[in-house]
Amino acid sequence: MNGSNIFPTRRAAQYGIRIRPLFVGIALALALAASLCVVSVSFAQGPTDNQSCLQCHSNPELSMTLASGEPLSLFVDSDVFHASIHGTLNVQCVQCHTDIQGYPHPPANYLDRRDVTLQNYRTCEGCHPDNYRKTLDSMHQVALAGGNRNAAVCTDCHTAHAVTDPATPRTRIPQTCAQCHSTISDQYIKSVHGEALFNDNNPDVPTCIDCHGVHGIGDPTTARFRLNSPQLCAKCHTDAAMMSKYGISTNVLNTYIADFHGTTVELFAKQHPDQPTNKPVCYDCHGVHDIKSTSDPASTVSTQENLLKTCRRCHPDATTASFTAAWMSHYEASPEKYPLVYYVNLFYWVIIPLTIGALLIYIASDVFQRVRRRFGKAKTMADKSSDQV
Ligand code: HEC
Ligand code: HEC
Ligand code: HEC
Ligand code: HEC
Ligand code: HEC
Ligand code: HEC
Ligand code: HEC
Ligand code: HEC
Ligand code: HEC
Repeated sequence: MNGSNIFPTRRAAQYGIRIRPLFVGIALALALAASLCVVSVSFAQGPTDNQSCLQCHSNPELSMTLASGEPLSLFVDSDVFHASIHGTLNVQCVQCHTDIQGYPHPPANYLDRRDVTLQNYRTCEGCHPDNYRKTLDSMHQVALAGGNRNAAVCTDCHTAHAVTDPATPRTRIPQTCAQCHSTISDQYIKSVHGEALFNDNNPDVPTCIDCHGVHGIGDPTTARFRLNSPQLCAKCHTDAAMMSKYGISTNVLNTYIADFHGTTVELFAKQHPDQPTNKPVCYDCHGVHDIKSTSDPASTVSTQENLLKTCRRCHPDATTASFTAAWMSHYEASPEKYPLVYYVNLFYWVIIPLTIGALLIYIASDVFQRVRRRFGKAKTMADKSSDQV
């Protein structure tokens, strides 16, 4: 045992210089084996950088079959992804697909194409918690909770892999909503607001989200929304700098509030914000998504005939033009428009101050006379008594 022990030692001494490379070689071989082992272990999980995901997912043929029998394409266009905001910022696939760590993937359980979206969209919350929270009370989430699977979630409006600025150009906004609200969108495109947006790329006119909001879209059919709606239109229509560009009057709100219709709506909005009103708001006369210029013959308020039709929705007995003629619309009375009202007003503006003024002067002079008389009398009596002293 000893001899066999000594032998290598001796041999080692003998070949001292050569034996060290041998050990180094063995160590290297072992290290290589070990590292191969590590490589194969990590290969079972796969590298998680975007390039390795795209090795498989940039194949246009890659697809899987869903429970419904529908095929789901698993192709992700690398160019499109890299041009997106997330691709530009080097966001990793696995930052959104947090449950995937290489291949094989955990088993996916999708009923149909819609289910792929509904199971995955909440991943956006991770980096956009504020927008996610805003959507929770929106009409879309209300509809979703009520079982309407078609209500919009993040990726319906933004896509998953091709996210770019959703408001540039501005026409993108109604086009986004049009995917599901095409009837309304078609009306809007032909309205005075929509035409200006699509023909002139006008930055002032409202798109869907100026009136409805975006992530927290509320219910536009409530009494509260209706009562507050004149202020919604007024935000722009009382903005003198904006309206002067189009030669449109900014008196439309004051004149509306001053007349019998608007006064009540304004009062209700402050005191009973949830009570329905039968008085008209701006959109009862002008339309909602189909508002036309007042010079357009198709406007609900342009011709006497159209206007009468508009009034008759609530005043069914109004049959003659004299009904609308008795109403001043948004005009303030002037010698040109509504001269009778103007001169009656003027009459009151002049006669009433004059009458009251004259009355006041008369009373003042009377008081003055009486005071002077009494004071004068007292003075002469005092003069008399001082004479007596
Ligand atoms: C070796 C090829 C391969 C690689 C690498 C790969 N995948 Fe897949 N992926 C597939 C195949 C095949 C399917 C079909 C379903 C399955 O086999 O699990 C799939 C399905 C998917 C799905 C849809 C099903 C589900 O789980 O929601 C997603 C999402 C996905 N892969 C993301 C990724 C991401 C992210 C990476 C990178 C970390 C990646 N894949 C890397 C081949 C691959
Ligand atoms: C910003 C988050 C995000 C990023 C980054 C992301 N995905 Fe997705 N991905 C999703 C969402 C959400 C879905 C669900 C599908 C939908 O809503 O259309 C999805 C769906 C998928 C699917 C299923 C097929 C499909 O298109 O619906 C595959 C495959 C996939 N992603 C692969 C990838 C790969 C590969 C990358 C990286 C190159 C990647 N994803 C990057 C969010 C993301
Ligand atoms: C109904 C369509 C719609 C849905 C659903 C939607 N968005 Fe948006 N989002 C938009 C539009 C339109 C804009 C542009 C708003 C603007 O420019 O004022 C926008 C803007 C954004 C922006 C950039 C501006 C900002 O507010 O920071 C982010 C980030 C965003 N959305 C994330 C999300 C996320 C996350 C979800 C899901 C929780 C979501 N969005 C759901 C339509 C939508
Ligand atoms: C890993 C973090 C991360 C996740 C997850 C993520 N985003 Fe983003 N997103 C960003 C960053 C960073 C920006 C750029 C800064 C910003 O606008 O907040 C951005 C910007 C955006 C923008 C604005 C685009 C622009 O050009 O103005 C939208 C819209 C958006 N993300 C939508 C989504 C949607 C939809 C999802 C889910 C499918 C999602 N994001 C998931 C990080 C993320
Ligand atoms: C993916 C489809 C989809 C997209 C995109 C979408 N919506 Fe919707 N929206 C729905 C569905 C579904 C409902 C629920 C309809 C219902 O209950 O009658 C709804 C409801 C609404 C409501 C409430 C309607 C009511 O009667 O109370 C408003 C307002 C609305 N959406 C506005 C928008 C706007 C603005 C956009 C674009 C920024 C948009 N939607 C984008 C599908 C969508
Ligand atoms: C000038 C403001 C304004 C603009 C712009 C606008 N809306 Fe509306 N929207 C309203 C008002 C006001 C109502 C309530 C109408 C009512 O109760 O009769 C409404 C109602 C709705 C409704 C629910 C009632 C219905 O008719 O189904 C939906 C959905 C809707 N709008 C979507 C959109 C979409 C999509 C766009 C863009 C293409 C858009 N809106 C543009 C003001 C606007
Ligand atoms: C975001 C700003 C904005 C909001 C909100 C808005 N408008 Fe307008 N509106 C405009 C601008 C700007 C024009 C001029 C467009 C043009 O002539 O090119 C216009 C034009 C009009 C016209 C045509 C005037 C004419 O005869 O030429 C009417 C009527 C009108 N709006 C009514 C409304 C009503 C009613 C509402 C509320 C339901 C409303 N607007 C909300 C900006 C707005
Ligand atoms: C009872 C019906 C009625 C109501 C309510 C009403 N309007 Fe009008 N509006 C009209 C009529 C009629 C005209 C056309 C006047 C004319 O040109 O002879 C008009 C004209 C306008 C114009 C064009 C002004 C111009 O300078 O060309 C705008 C803008 C307008 N209205 C906005 C509004 C707004 C905003 C509200 C709510 C605050 C409102 N309207 C409420 C009937 C109404
Ligand atoms: C959305 C419904 C609605 C529309 C549209 C409407 N009105 Fe009225 N209007 C009312 C209500 C409600 C009253 C209050 C009636 C009452 O108190 O007895 C009223 C009152 C009046 C009055 C006061 C005298 C009266 O009958 O009490 C006049 C004048 C009038 N409206 C004219 C018009 C004209 C002109 C139009 C069309 C340009 C019009 N209205 C459109 C609902 C409407």
